[in-house]
Amino acid sequence: MTSLREVLNRAEADKVAVGHFNFSDLAAFNAIVAAARDKRLPVMVGLSEGEREFTGVRQAAALVKAVRDEYDYPIFLNADHTHSIANAEAAAKAGFDEIIFDGSALPFEENIAQTKKAIEAIKSINPAILVEAEIGWIGASSAVLDKIPDGVGVLTTPDEARQFVEATLVDVLAPAVGNMHGMLASMVHGNVRKRLNIERIAEIKAAVRIFMTLHGGSGTNDDDFRKAIKSGMTIVHVNTELRLAWRSGVEAGLAAAPNEVAPYKILGAAVAAVKEVVSSRLELFSSR
Ligand code: G3H
Ligand code: ZN
Repeated sequence: MTSLREVLNRAEADKVAVGHFNFSDLAAFNAIVAAARDKRLPVMVGLSEGEREFTGVRQAAALVKAVRDEYDYPIFLNADHTHSIANAEAAAKAGFDEIIFDGSALPFEENIAQTKKAIEAIKSINPAILVEAEIGWIGASSAVLDKIPDGVGVLTTPDEARQFVEATLVDVLAPAVGNMHGMLASMVHGNVRKRLNIERIAEIKAAVRIFMTLHGGSGTNDDDFRKAIKSGMTIVHVNTELRLAWRSGVEAGLAAAPNEVAPYKILGAAVAAVKEVVSSRLELFSSR
């Protein structure tokens, strides 16, 4: 089985990105797997601490392992936005491929110190796990937001990024480059799209020369996605768009069969809705 590092190396060389999609139930998970298999593309699936609390850490790992074993498929599991060393260790022990230690809410020096501790703890359990860290504030929730969260919009500088990477030796960096977690209502309706600072992405990539992840992908301008990927983003995270699709699929499934009580008969519409979003994002992220 190819490793995540190998898949990222290939994507970086080809100037494409690997799609990372969050899930917290079997409908979304199966939708992501079905979309990736249709397109024959490697895929990352991730769970935040809240999502992991709902599914179970080992249960999520078992789902991914089952797909790998059954289809020999390049699907990789990420412990998204992990805030404590204990939770990072639990994910490492469960067999996650990547762990994001998210100290982005901490002062810069404290983020460096905590990230170094997390890397040491994770790599002592399994040195093959890739560790990602975040710098800069891009908000924290994959939700429909009333307004842009306070502090969002300040860009990571190439110097900060270089200093952070040199001090921590982290494998993957997630900087703030105009991106934001979640969507404004205007983005849900498609009137407004998130815009990225492409020049800054290229400058940070040149300064750090490690893999970079674009968080907060939902509602981003398509052309900015393409340029961000060409300029150095090798992983792209999307969550809110999937959550919106899941919800409208569940509502449609319930409305179509008001007396139905079998979950698998209701949730088929949610699988289809999430699969459509994942397919279109994978198509975009893999285009050359
Ligand atoms: O880690 C998860 C993501 O960065 C998702 O952000 O909900 O804005 O797509 P999003
Ligand atoms: Zn994120």
